[in-house]
Amino acid sequence: MNTLIRNGTVVTANETRKADVLIEGGRISQVGPGLAAGSDARVIDASGTYVIPGGIDAHTHLDMPFGGTMSSDDFLTGTRAAAFGGTTSIVDFAIQARGTRMRDALDTWWKKAEGRATIDYGLHMIVTDLAGAGLEDMDDMVREGVSSFKLFMAYPNSLMVDDGTIFKALSQTAKNGALICMHAENGSVIDVIVARAVAEGNTAPIYHALTRPVKAEAEAVHRSIALAEIAGVPVYIVHLTSEDALNEVREARDRGVPAFAETCPQYLLLSIDDLARPGFEGAKYVFTPPLRPKEHQPKLWDGLKHDHLQVVSTDHCPFCFEDQKILGKDDFTKIPNGGPGIENRLQLIYHHGVNAGKITLNRFVEITSTTPARIFGMYPRKGEIAPGSDADVVIWDPEAVHTLSAKTHHMRVDYSMFEGFEIKGNARTVISRGEVIVDNGKFLGKPGRGQYLKRAARGGAWK
Ligand code: URP
Ligand code: ZN
Ligand code: ZN
Repeated sequence: MNTLIRNGTVVTANETRKADVLIEGGRISQVGPGLAAGSDARVIDASGTYVIPGGIDAHTHLDMPFGGTMSSDDFLTGTRAAAFGGTTSIVDFAIQARGTRMRDALDTWWKKAEGRATIDYGLHMIVTDLAGAGLEDMDDMVREGVSSFKLFMAYPNSLMVDDGTIFKALSQTAKNGALICMHAENGSVIDVIVARAVAEGNTAPIYHALTRPVKAEAEAVHRSIALAEIAGVPVYIVHLTSEDALNEVREARDRGVPAFAETCPQYLLLSIDDLARPGFEGAKYVFTPPLRPKEHQPKLWDGLKHDHLQVVSTDHCPFCFEDQKILGKDDFTKIPNGGPGIENRLQLIYHHGVNAGKITLNRFVEITSTTPARIFGMYPRKGEIAPGSDADVVIWDPEAVHTLSAKTHHMRVDYSMFEGFEIKGNARTVISRGEVIVDNGKFLGKPGRGQYLKRAARGGAWK
């Protein structure tokens, strides 16, 4: 069915203008004033709202094994929750198990998404092992549209790889055009500090943050960028949390180095004080890297404003408090690392960013949709309101008020990191490839309708 969105204000990364949007065959066909549609077209009146490109969350972990359990949202519940919040594409992470081929992981993650995903999804590959055919596997993945790889400098006993492996992977991207995403924390040093804390009987959730110093993040960001410079390729730092780490990125970018970084709403809005909540409450805020002292928050907002940070993603990795976080009741090292947020990203960044005057409306669109599309090989099919782009469109009501709560959210997790936060501005209607999947709080999308996004490598055309 064709759709005409009338009387709205179209907001992209570059402009804000009164215009109608015509959607035909799942794609945007026209944007402009006074558009007409056939008598059989659905007409949506967008008066008083913003018409923005669907959000793109470039960092999610659905149905992911971690710490002896699985993240509690799968591709159905997670993508449905994402859609409620105005996100129409995600890039999730497949994990290569040590000693296995990346294709096995890709097949496993495709199966997880098949029949469940309600919005479009791409996949990054977490590389744990480049021995044997690892480098050829990377090329193979790029051909399959997995054009980005995540490597860990943390978690020495499970996911961490050494600098030689990181350098080999970076160097390979000079040939295959992929992008390396770095989890930048000095895991070896952190493990020593963690062991000391546990030996001293310091096992409460707050020690998760106290054993992971800011300098361990900044050092790893510095090293990531240095290794990328030696290899002569770009690098993308995931979930950046602190002023010190941000300074490393800014300094590199000032020198013209293609270093990119994302942060997440939790680092902009929560702090180490949340980990110090009484009893075991702090476990709800155990994720990695950890929350920092409040003083870092304005620096991160400033980084977003001035393009030292390019993207806001969620690192959505939910674990239920009652039966999963509890695994670490007597030892913070056993708390599954991760927090929920896939549903709330646009709401939080709009309210605390745009309404609070920290970023413009156009910058909001840029950091939540257009830039992730560009960096991760989806632009201009995604992240844009223009003829030819997929009709992933959100009708954003700037007046809608809403209180975030586990009682009303759609994520399959028994708490909200943002419980009681009041926000103004919310997705009213969410359209994915021309289909209305959320309308006025009602979910209309079918499980399995989401399509795999075969993403382009750097310099490559969208397929
Ligand atoms: O604590 C986190 N962030 N869990 C997900 C895995 C990761 O490092 O992104
Ligand atoms: Zn990470
Ligand atoms: Zn993550």
